[in-house]
Amino acid sequence: MAVIALAGGLGAPGVTTTAMALLLTWPLEGGHRVVLAECDPDGGAILPGALQGTLGGTHGLRNLALAARQGQLGEAFWRQLVDVTDAGTRDRLVLPGLYDPAHASSMGPVWKPLSAMFAGIEAHAHDVLVDLGRRGAFGPSQVLAQRADVMLLVARNTLRGLQSAEVRLAALREQLGTTSEVRLLLVDAGPFPAGEVQRQLGAEVVATLPWRPGEAAVLSDGAEQPRKFEVSELIRAARSATTRIRQLVATRRARLSVPARGSLEARAVTGAR
Ligand SMILES: Nc1ncnc2c1ncn2[C@@H]1O[C@H](COP(=O)(O)OP(=O)(O)O)[C@@H](O)[C@H]1O
Ligand SMILES: [Mg+2]
Repeated sequence: MAVIALAGGLGAPGVTTTAMALLLTWPLEGGHRVVLAECDPDGGAILPGALQGTLGGTHGLRNLALAARQGQLGEAFWRQLVDVTDAGTRDRLVLPGLYDPAHASSMGPVWKPLSAMFAGIEAHAHDVLVDLGRRGAFGPSQVLAQRADVMLLVARNTLRGLQSAEVRLAALREQLGTTSEVRLLLVDAGPFPAGEVQRQLGAEVVATLPWRPGEAAVLSDGAEQPRKFEVSELIRAARSATTRIRQLVATRRARLSVPARGSLEARAVTGAR
């Protein structure tokens, strides 16, 4: 029952891959469901990537622009979600992103009501992961970052990755103030250990995902799964990251005394195939 925003710095540090790993490992006890909303203004990668283009461009964020203008975002949202479970249980869902970044300009009326929806999505026990890509935490879609419980900056622990993260971290902090907690999630592609990164950048490293190109390609490009993918290093690390992230949300909510339940009507979720 939380909104977790993910963003990255220069290059492609692995925001979408990390978000997918969290989506697939998010704990679902007590009837929980989880949605990954791909809100990267530069365009989405999940439909052509993890989902291998099998759905064409039929589902996604783009279809919400008209609905938002007509005040029907609530109903439309659930219809745009794609189930990524093998068993069709609809408890791990993706809102695919824009397939053409040119469409970002028409999304202005969507971001605010969408962020309000995410913040109130708890009535049906959905947690939401929001992929903001490189730019999405700034500009018109910044409200998505502002209303998140936790903001995770995904960075590779290379010199280049960390320099970019440092600049981005400062910008995020200025932008979000104390409204959202900014933390680091490292992709272990470089030599710098988490403790050192934490000290240098002055932000907690919530988790470190291992550098595993073969496993990552399953999540970023829909590559064939290596043997025992479900218990691979990357997936196991993502699973423990979810525990830490949920702890952070719980601590923050306890501090702010946010009530546990909201009011979103989610009845249309069953029709969202
Ligand atoms: N933990 C990881 N280990 C190895 N490669 C990774 C990892 N995370 C991401 N990658 C790779 O990095 C590239 C960019 O990932 P992507 O998630 O699309 O980045 P972003 O969303 O930040 O642009 C992809 O080829 C992906 O497979
Ligand atoms: Mg991405």
